[in-house]
Amino acid sequence: MLLEESELANLRQEIENRRTFAIISHPDAGKTTITEKFLLYGGAIQEAGMVKGKKNSRHAVSDWMEIEKQRGISVTSSVLQFRYQGKCINILDTPGHQDFSEDTYRTLMAADSAVMVIDASKGVEAQTRKLFKVCAMRGVPIFTFINKMDREARDPYELLDEIETELGIGTYAVNWPIGSGKRFHGVYDRVDDQVIAFEGADFRHEVKASRLSLDDPILEGTLPTELYQQLIDDVELLSGAGDEFDLAAVHAGKLSPVFFGSALTNFGVEPFLEKFLQMSTPPTAREADIGRIDPFDPHFSAFVFKIQANMNKAHRDRIAFMRICSGKFERGSDVWHVQGGRKIQLAQPQQLMAQDRSIVDEAFAGDIIGVFDPGIFSIGDTVCDPTMKCVYSGIPTFAPELFARVRQKDTLKRKQFVKGVEQIAREGAIQIFHEPNTGMEEVIVGVVGVLQFEVLEYRLKNEYNVEVIREGLPYEHLRWIENTDEEFDYKTLKLTSDTKVVQDFQGNYLLLFTSPWNISWALDHNEDLTLSEFSENA
Ligand code: G4P
Repeated sequence: MLLEESELANLRQEIENRRTFAIISHPDAGKTTITEKFLLYGGAIQEAGMVKGKKNSRHAVSDWMEIEKQRGISVTSSVLQFRYQGKCINILDTPGHQDFSEDTYRTLMAADSAVMVIDASKGVEAQTRKLFKVCAMRGVPIFTFINKMDREARDPYELLDEIETELGIGTYAVNWPIGSGKRFHGVYDRVDDQVIAFEGADFRHEVKASRLSLDDPILEGTLPTELYQQLIDDVELLSGAGDEFDLAAVHAGKLSPVFFGSALTNFGVEPFLEKFLQMSTPPTAREADIGRIDPFDPHFSAFVFKIQANMNKAHRDRIAFMRICSGKFERGSDVWHVQGGRKIQLAQPQQLMAQDRSIVDEAFAGDIIGVFDPGIFSIGDTVCDPTMKCVYSGIPTFAPELFARVRQKDTLKRKQFVKGVEQIAREGAIQIFHEPNTGMEEVIVGVVGVLQFEVLEYRLKNEYNVEVIREGLPYEHLRWIENTDEEFDYKTLKLTSDTKVVQDFQGNYLLLFTSPWNISWALDHNEDLTLSEFSENA
């Protein structure tokens, strides 16, 4: 592919200006609110309350099915794109609440960085921990926004300490809060060495704030005496302790820049967004079989990270979401689908701008496009320029946490049952296992979020006309056994009585545990046993 110099320069600029990130948080920490504020600043929406909200994701499963049916396609938008200060920003949606699923993890594979939103009164919570682990596995830069400072918050030193000890990442407070709750007066920006003192909010756009240097005589009169004194003491203490700011460590995912603010009242949101855009990287090189592929390589390449099946029986089509890793996508050009081994055109390529879905004519490395999938794509597939033919490292399979034994109610429907379960598993909507050396007589289904079970039942009934019986199993942890050679015999493993050996349909051996204690027990009693929480080859 030969591009004119001006085209190359344009390509470079488009890609350099892109920032693609996911927001990770525990439900209710403020992900939706902060996303909405970002979109407001970017002018992508005019007022708060327009983003698909938690309200959607909180409603009962049956409603969710209804909405899916009515819209024909997923209600869970996969990416929101908007422009701010010359940058093209892609926010990847990480479904939480009831629709938390393996898709949430997979989506993180498409991000170049993550924003971790933490509730200042709660600190690190369960779902944040899980999502953080997946980000840390890839070493993506993680920015922390400690939210809800307008409410009574925990001590900021204690919060930083918790992030460091619980998550094992260094922290650097880029700004420091001045008070909290009703007495949240602003933040001190340690990088620019200035105080941003808040003066009032209209709850829609950025608050009125004055920027003052620490030694400005006006400051002392602006803040209540004890908060002023506290700030002076904190600044001194911070300069003498903690990690140095090191951008390379941030980019390596070893140091998290931390910001304090309040998404609801806008306090500190825009300063955060500005600093985030300065400190985060444009799309980075990705690992493929032919080496690392530079995003600025003019050849188009992308991988599929999510497939959204249509819940509507009348439309069996699906949408495959791809992350563009290099070059530029142009509508109508031929691409090579590596796993399918043939040239195709990507049909109906679409992008989301706030809540509008539109057909895209071109997109660049860093962008996400959704394409019509007649059933040819699988998660992890690569599509690329026909002259390139690279294969991106697959998307790992993540350990499910909920398990159930599933079988068909009507034994005569066995064939449809097997077909349906296999197909739904192939799409990545569930994982299926069986007892060693048995086939599909009894299927153990593993999922990350409970909604996946409901979706399985709904789809089997509607698409395959099979009703199933689901019996919950007590396991909560799954590990792949890594060291299985030809001599491996699962029967020789020493395990507690409530640990179960299963196989996936590629023949890999796995262990199901009821508690972390049982995992340690298995490792302690089987010298050569190596277990993994993710599987690259499943
Ligand atoms: P999520 O997407 O992470 O689940 O959280 P979401 O933004 O939906 O926020 C959860 C709740 O927390 C919402 O209140 C929201 O208004 C509130 N919230 C978010 N950011 C802040 C903040 O900075 N300060 C305060 N005080 N509250 C915040 P809700 O009552 O559940 O919903 P709503 O009735 O306000 O819509």
